[in-house]
Amino acid sequence: MQRIDTDVVIVGAGAAGLTAATELVKAGREVVVLEARDRVGGRLWTGEIDGAMLEIGGQWVSPDQDALIETLADLGLETYERYREGQNVYIAEDGERRLFEGEIFPVPARTEGEIVGLIDKLDALVAEIDPDAPWTHPRAKELDEISFAHWLETQTHDVEARLNIGMFIAGAMLTKPTHAFSALQALLMAASAGSFSHLVDADFILDKRVVGGLQRVPLGLAERLGDRVRLNQPVRTVRWEADAAAGAAAVVAVTDELEVHAREIVLAVPPVLVDRISYDPPLPRRQHQLHQHISMGFVIKVHAVYETPFWREQGLSGTAFSPYELCHEAYDNTNHGDPRGTLVGFVSDEAADEVFELTAEERKSRILESLAHYFGDQAKHPVVYYESDWGSEEWTRGAYAASFDMGGLARYGADLRTPVGPIRFACSDMAGKGYQHVDGAIRMGRLVAEQILEELA
Ligand code: FDA
Repeated sequence: MQRIDTDVVIVGAGAAGLTAATELVKAGREVVVLEARDRVGGRLWTGEIDGAMLEIGGQWVSPDQDALIETLADLGLETYERYREGQNVYIAEDGERRLFEGEIFPVPARTEGEIVGLIDKLDALVAEIDPDAPWTHPRAKELDEISFAHWLETQTHDVEARLNIGMFIAGAMLTKPTHAFSALQALLMAASAGSFSHLVDADFILDKRVVGGLQRVPLGLAERLGDRVRLNQPVRTVRWEADAAAGAAAVVAVTDELEVHAREIVLAVPPVLVDRISYDPPLPRRQHQLHQHISMGFVIKVHAVYETPFWREQGLSGTAFSPYELCHEAYDNTNHGDPRGTLVGFVSDEAADEVFELTAEERKSRILESLAHYFGDQAKHPVVYYESDWGSEEWTRGAYAASFDMGGLARYGADLRTPVGPIRFACSDMAGKGYQHVDGAIRMGRLVAEQILEELA
């Protein structure tokens, strides 16, 4: 067992952990970053699959994500716009394929009125929510006791309107069914992006990508940190003292090979993985409890690469939605400067469970069939096909991110970021602005670094 002494040990080399490390090093502190995997980036991962460059994890950048945008500028990374020329596709309950432009789906006028009304109502409610403290809303407890599905039912009898509004938060964001999370959790999701209208606007929320892939952010940060980042070092145990003498090591992070002694520790891991580490002494009761009320969503990100972006020749943007389809949303995901065309589709929560019961061939065929409903039969014949399955990743266990179960946000939300002695927490899944996004991870990394610098001053 090798011993290392440092000021701060950081567990996790995702965007949050690497940002915290970067800020601490800038301020002259010594850090060691311990990463379980053999690569940095966590949920940011650019892979080469059968000759195609695919963004297996997070990829899009929206214009309000200034923490991420500043980091991109700092690393000198270039961005490009998602392809969006032409018409979008919507598939109705009876399977009819309808083309449209703009944000509102081509649904019957009555349903459209209900959708617009729901967006207005949600925007008004979201404006009252502080994304950093949704539990302080005067009706927080009440809104956290009802599911988003139930809240929608109290607002309109129009099922298609409910399904579509539900899809923007459920299938597309929290990746849990609308009955599995609260209205308050839904409002936090929208507030973290500025408004509910922003979530409905694909051109806003899925605006830009990074040339070479968004994993270039953690790769760039890690390169600057050099050998402070140690790969293949899953932290198994954290020994800590609440009242260490000033300047003394208050915490030890133990991997299979290393013992890192430090004054502070940052757990920059998804909240669902905090409990995978043993603590000596154990974490307090509140931490034991709260981590049992938070869980990862689940979505399959499907990549299909074709010889050409054939849908563009049909005047289609590649953007498609339907609450009735296996792939509830799809986009043109062609890489910058790539002559081949890529579609990305998403299969969320219970639909994902269902297709994982099938063989790989059956699942592929069902998913491509769904893409073909939007884009025609050519969609059935990709030259490269890949399913990102984060549910099988030991060091993530789902996608995109973690959220509370019913009632959990009002009850435990305030404790999620509360330090325990020398132990601090940072992750996109506890952010306010940028919640569940890379922007939020960077914000949390910065925040925790600022707190530590104050503490160590
Ligand atoms: P993250 O999970 O990335 O990092 C945690 C790190 O801790 C990991 O590297 C893990 O291996 C490590 N770790 C865990 N336990 C450990 C232990 N015991 N010891 C040592 N290391 C340990 N966001 C966005 O902005 N735009 C987008 O388009 C998307 N799309 C998207 C698609 C998919 C499929 C996914 C899975 C996610 C997204 N996201 C996204 C979300 C985004 O990727 C995510 O919010 C951030 O990358 C999370 O960064 P963190 O650093 O907070 O956690």
